[in-house]
Amino acid sequence: MQTQIIITEDGSHSLFVPQLDEHYHSTHGAIQESHHVYIDAGFCASTLQQINVLEIGFGTGLNAFLTLLESLKTNLTVHYTSLELYPLDIEVAKQLNYAEQVTNKTIASLFMDLHNAQWNQPTEITPNFTLHKIELDFSKPNNLISSKQFDVIYFDAFAPEKQPEMWSQAIFDKLYALSNSNAIITTYCAKGAVRRMLQSAGFTVERLPGPIGKREILRGRKE
Ligand SMILES: C[S@@+](CC[C@H](N)C(=O)[O-])C[C@H]1O[C@@H](n2cnc3c(N)ncnc32)[C@H](O)[C@@H]1O
Repeated sequence: MQTQIIITEDGSHSLFVPQLDEHYHSTHGAIQESHHVYIDAGFCASTLQQINVLEIGFGTGLNAFLTLLESLKTNLTVHYTSLELYPLDIEVAKQLNYAEQVTNKTIASLFMDLHNAQWNQPTEITPNFTLHKIELDFSKPNNLISSKQFDVIYFDAFAPEKQPEMWSQAIFDKLYALSNSNAIITTYCAKGAVRRMLQSAGFTVERLPGPIGKREILRGRKE
């Protein structure tokens, strides 16, 4: 998929997809949005010491990088599985400015380690963080991850208007089946239809205050 790099309001990059007329992140700030929706409301809401994360849409690797930084801070062990239908060109990844927020050069270099990791096999990025990027179309049936169970799910597909096939009841039922008990799922999309599909799947759903530029986000829990 063709993408163009843009600078969002917090100074961090995002990608624009002309074909869909859609951005990968909020134009109000990619890092501030990812941190708010996925790290603070998702990852940090788990009480486990070892966390299996599932991300729908690896994209720029921003959520993975922020989770990795959080795992270094908290010393939690993370197994991070990320699904992606359109892996980003490595030359685009090299231009993204997410690692510039990190002053420690060794830690900053982990951003490209995430991108350089092989697809479809687990790769140890640090002793506490293993990345497993899987190239697949999550809207189609597959059994590549059906035997796995996750504790935290980042649902970060393109918007429902752009990609309705990713926001169906069947998708949320599949995510519920992939969840451990007490698993948490977060998404930036707070639409009533999405909340109801999460609830129909079995999640207990709450609306949380959104990041700058967005009133609310959703968090579900498998209770
Ligand atoms: C809103 S972007 C977010 C990406 C990423 N989380 C980030 O922070 O850059 C949505 C991502 O979902 C991916 N995607 C779209 N359709 C998909 C599908 N059917 N299966 C898996 N990934 C998909 C896109 O290629 C894109 O990388």
